[in-house]
Amino acid sequence: MDLFEKIAANRGPLGSHSHYAHGYFTFPKLEGEIEPRMIFRGKEVLTWSLNNYLGLANHPEVRKADADGAAQYGMALPMGARMMSGNSNLHEQLESELADFVQKPDCMLLNFGYQGVVSIIDAMVGRHDVIVYDAESHACIIDGVRLHAGKRFVYTHNDMESLEKQLQRAKRITDETGGGILVITEGVFGMSGNQGNLKGVVALKEKYEFRLFIDDAHGFGTMGATGAGTGEEQGVQDGIDLYFSTFAKSMASIGAFVAGPESVIEYLRYNMRSQIFAKSLPMPLVVGALKRLELLRTRPELKDNLWTIVRALQSGLREKGFNIGTTSSPVTPVFLNGQIPDATQITFDLRENYGIFCSIVVYPVVPKGVIMLRLIPTAVHSLSDVEQTIKAFEAVAEKLDKGLYSKTSPVLAN
Ligand SMILES: Cc1ncc(COP(=O)(O)O)c(C=O)c1O
Repeated sequence: MDLFEKIAANRGPLGSHSHYAHGYFTFPKLEGEIEPRMIFRGKEVLTWSLNNYLGLANHPEVRKADADGAAQYGMALPMGARMMSGNSNLHEQLESELADFVQKPDCMLLNFGYQGVVSIIDAMVGRHDVIVYDAESHACIIDGVRLHAGKRFVYTHNDMESLEKQLQRAKRITDETGGGILVITEGVFGMSGNQGNLKGVVALKEKYEFRLFIDDAHGFGTMGATGAGTGEEQGVQDGIDLYFSTFAKSMASIGAFVAGPESVIEYLRYNMRSQIFAKSLPMPLVVGALKRLELLRTRPELKDNLWTIVRALQSGLREKGFNIGTTSSPVTPVFLNGQIPDATQITFDLRENYGIFCSIVVYPVVPKGVIMLRLIPTAVHSLSDVEQTIKAFEAVAEKLDKGLYSKTSPVLAN
């Protein structure tokens, strides 16, 4: 069969909806400054779908640092991969400051989080080693695991009994092969808002020999007394062997890092294919990241503001009877019962009639018959934004209960 014909016949689980979804439900364009209120198709909407947790995206000091970095260095510097010709003092300074911030001896910058995680996993394990990972892991972990030539076992999300069972299976294999075990989970799970049970995982280290790699994309800057992440929050930062975060969320930028012992980071510098064979992070991003990190360190009020909004939103939704699952982080899911056509109509109604823009998640990410609206509170939302949103949610939930959405014809975007 011709590959292009095959693709025309099957556009994939998301692509098969593109004929009506593109530009509205998928690939929407949010315009204007990155703030709670932005413009969607010419109208103002209150946005709850940007991972701008600390509100740094449009912080004047950050905007200035980004602009100054670009003016001083341009986007080209440094040219080449870090190892060949793309290193700089500022890259090394950022690595050293990040390592201090997450309480690890050393750190390495990565160009992208997704590619970074895939490549860290690829570099850390060989065919004699075994990976054990949480079932609800982000795609970057799953894809890293896919590259692995050895055995891998998945444990039920956050279930320590299941993890222990899989560790026993892993150990039987490594006893034979002489390999090691890498356990991988997330600090904060970006869909449910659940914290990974890092304390439980670390406790198993006494019984089983393994190394722990944490993707803390949503926990970095938002969790823990100093913002050092979910390990700090749970008092087990030392038990994390390799700590990863992207700059795409609290840092409101592009790039990522991995932190850990000097010898391991040194190994990764010389063995991570996504970094060895790719151009180094451009200087303006490094300059901008240094400024963002400074604000994380010196402006605790940013995290305090975020949590004021998180608490108001989550307790307000619970008080009105909404099911927000088991979140213990800023990520706020709202679970409703309904089908995919209800979900598209709710999204449309929220955007067009209540001015609320949030992400909507349906099967297969959540079970059939469940609709998940996902809200990401930020430090720059206000309590009146929270109030407006809860009122809108009450109104759409009532319409959903009365079956009003299913009775109207599906809304098609143009
Ligand atoms: C848990 C998690 N890991 C990794 C990534 C990928 O990071 P990046 O956007 O820097 O590729 C994301 C999303 O951004 C994420 O949510």
